[in-house]
Amino acid sequence: MTTATVSPNAVSPNTAAPTHAAKTGTLFSERSAIAGRPLSAVTGAEIQAPLIQGGHVRYANLDYGASAPALSVVSAYLNEILPFYASVHRGAGYASQISTSVYENARNIVRDFVGGRPDDSVVFTRNTTDSLNLLAGCLPVREGRPDGDVLYLDIEHHANLLPWQGVPHRSVVAADTIAGTIEVLRAELEQGGVSLLAVTGASNVTGEILPIRALAALAHEHGARIVVDAAQLAPHRRINISTDDVDYLAFSGHKLYAPFGAGVLVGRPDWLDAGTPHLAGGGAVREARLDGVSWATGPARHEGGSPNVLGAATLARATQVIGALDQDRWHAHEAAIRSFLVEGLQKIDGVTVHQIFKDTHPDTDTIGVVNFSVAGYDAGLVAAYLSAEHGVGLRDGRFCAHPLLKRLGIPSGSLRASFGLGSRLEDAQRLLAGIEELRRTGLGWDYVVDSGRWVPANDTRTYPEWAPNTPGTAGAAPCIED
Ligand SMILES: Cc1ncc(COP(=O)(O)O)c(C=O)c1O
Repeated sequence: MTTATVSPNAVSPNTAAPTHAAKTGTLFSERSAIAGRPLSAVTGAEIQAPLIQGGHVRYANLDYGASAPALSVVSAYLNEILPFYASVHRGAGYASQISTSVYENARNIVRDFVGGRPDDSVVFTRNTTDSLNLLAGCLPVREGRPDGDVLYLDIEHHANLLPWQGVPHRSVVAADTIAGTIEVLRAELEQGGVSLLAVTGASNVTGEILPIRALAALAHEHGARIVVDAAQLAPHRRINISTDDVDYLAFSGHKLYAPFGAGVLVGRPDWLDAGTPHLAGGGAVREARLDGVSWATGPARHEGGSPNVLGAATLARATQVIGALDQDRWHAHEAAIRSFLVEGLQKIDGVTVHQIFKDTHPDTDTIGVVNFSVAGYDAGLVAAYLSAEHGVGLRDGRFCAHPLLKRLGIPSGSLRASFGLGSRLEDAQRLLAGIEELRRTGLGWDYVVDSGRWVPANDTRTYPEWAPNTPGTAGAAPCIED
């Protein structure tokens, strides 16, 4: 359904704006020594994206925060183990035994990656959302009733917000400083009756990191536990749940450079062993009867059915690669791209970069995520333009964080550029050049709204034959609609 059309130069060109090259030249050369090249090889780094006006350009993937490309090492490992792919926990055959060994060993690798305690459970799930839903079924019970509330902030991704709405819960509005937010949480915890503090490690909207060590200490002071949604943090920062005293940690392989969509929940076994089995079925039981069951404990309790062995194996392999990175080089690479992008965006008239907090905390900084809006343009239109005219992929919309978008004053959405190990400074430069051109000369093509998404009109670009669709029409974005 087509509901709107905009044409080239629909917004008055800002002819006074200096050129992008003039403004970013020094910024670029200063940082290219650090981030001119990818830090790690990833699959698809050189794919060519078709442009609406003809020709192709290297795809600038600035959407790592949604799903990151697979590390080349992970892809090679996958090819190595794929011939041995077989049932897990179910066969005496050679391949089945190997698959079982790979799957079970993946738990140890992931436990090491997050600095887990020896008795922590490592449960493989579908993704972070699944992990947090699993934990919601394992909250403590006293005399048959829930023993306390889950407390969460208004800045969370829906995955760390909606699972708690089905159990006793309280939410608080984060202050506009990190220090203030700690005080808001302290005041709520002092009221008593909180069993679990659920908090994001890093915002998927702005990339700001929360001080999880301080929050863990705060929760524990008040008799509560803490779960950290590390979907965004784990791909960017080393985490140690033992030294940070975090009780539960959830993250996803697809954001951590591993394909196949496995997630994981790591944490204290007592609640998990007593909680409701997440997926009732084969493998989750000690003994089943026609009218009853005795459930297993340990990860098996929550992993009913055939497990995603390749998802778990590739997730584990990715953690090994990330765990071996030189932290200084890793952070410098990301920081160089981020500062280049933020400084460049702030120099373009009409562009606003969004963030939640005015202050910083000694334990925190910002991951490779930058959120912004362009005055006069719908975010979805800018994203469609960047893709069609510049071969740049980024995310637009409300990022499955509707309450946060409202408080940031951008209830209808914004744009998010996110990057990581396979990114290079030129990706950010391409984005800046595209935004500057938009402000200077407007759109270079007609765009229409089709099924709620902006797409180029009369799009003749094609996908590879094995992806039977046309570019643009396949982009339905989750969490955009009310
Ligand atoms: C902070 C955060 N939490 C949770 C999720 C949900 O992750 P998944 O889609 O892997 O379940 C996301 C995904 O974007 C996220 O960014």
